[in-house]
Amino acid sequence: MQIAIVGLGRMGYNLALNLKDNGHDVIGYNRSSAKVDEIVKEGVKGAYSIEEMLGTFDGRRVIWLMVPNGAPTQGMIDTIVPMLNEHDVLIDGGNSNFNDTLARYEVIKAQGVDFVDAGTSGGIEGARYGACSMVGAEDDVFAFIEPIFRDICVENGYLHCGRVGSGHYTKMVHNGVEYGMMQAIGEGFEILKASQFDLDYEKVAKVWNNGSVIRSWLMELAESAFKKSPQLSDIRGVIGSNGEGLWTVEEALKLNVPVPVIAGSLFVRNRSEQDESFSGQVVAALRNEFGGHAVENK
Ligand SMILES: NC(=O)c1ccc[n+]([C@@H]2O[C@H](COP(=O)([O-])OP(=O)(O)OC[C@H]3O[C@@H](n4cnc5c(N)ncnc54)[C@H](OP(=O)(O)O)[C@@H]3O)[C@@H](O)[C@H]2O)c1
Repeated sequence: MQIAIVGLGRMGYNLALNLKDNGHDVIGYNRSSAKVDEIVKEGVKGAYSIEEMLGTFDGRRVIWLMVPNGAPTQGMIDTIVPMLNEHDVLIDGGNSNFNDTLARYEVIKAQGVDFVDAGTSGGIEGARYGACSMVGAEDDVFAFIEPIFRDICVENGYLHCGRVGSGHYTKMVHNGVEYGMMQAIGEGFEILKASQFDLDYEKVAKVWNNGSVIRSWLMELAESAFKKSPQLSDIRGVIGSNGEGLWTVEEALKLNVPVPVIAGSLFVRNRSEQDESFSGQVVAALRNEFGGHAVENK
């Protein structure tokens, strides 16, 4: 199938190679040209403008956006959609907020273009060698593009979740689960580290990966990280976030679903980005005020 990838970053670049390896006719476009030069050397067709990219298609176009959510995705949609024909397919493969996706669907559909949301999991390696995709699409549109997902995903690694929006929704919740699972792993290793025992964390992660209940890809990644740096002494415990955990918690609050683990892991990330906590200062001051409890002075 002819398909264009817009955004040759960590994910888009590898998805383009994955598609090419699976026999698809891929055209790669990127905002800055160096990535296009690079992927052309790997045998993927390159386009240096949106016009050039759209001009390479013979028939119904399939355009896969793989850019950061929010303004970059909206900017690309605003640029590309007016240039598309009726029933060309635009796939947003990034981690967009499902509320944005639902709103975009109405606007894009009114212009005759078929819009699809595809949440992608499996990281960079997955994008390159076998991803997991959660897809929201109208049935006939999904039937047209299904060969793409059959080819780029691992076996049983894609799902037509339902109507447009359901792919990004399912991916959002997946990322909320991911926050909680990673936090539990982090906390477990912190208890091991604080203990009276001199444990080898790489070996612990390895044994937990062989036959245990908590064996997992995340635990394999923990094993790999401890192999590179046994005490992680070169890494600060500052944890970034791209919004999906926050959206999951917002949605849970809206639906009255209790999510203490996911919410807690989101708050841990927020706290990790602060050098000092004003709430901590206030509580320390209050304890000192009412009970004369000691405070640590700066
Ligand atoms: N990394 C992951 O593990 C992962 C997993 C699943 C989903 N995702 C999602 O996949 C999408 C891409 O992620 P990534 O990790 O590949 O990001 P990335 O490595 O930072 O690449 C971002 C890409 O978007 C382009 N871009 C950025 N701002 C743009 C703009 N305003 N207009 C046009 N193009 C723009 C960049 O072009 P330049 O080269 O010109 O900067 C680059 O090609 C995101 O929505 C992300 O949430 C990522």
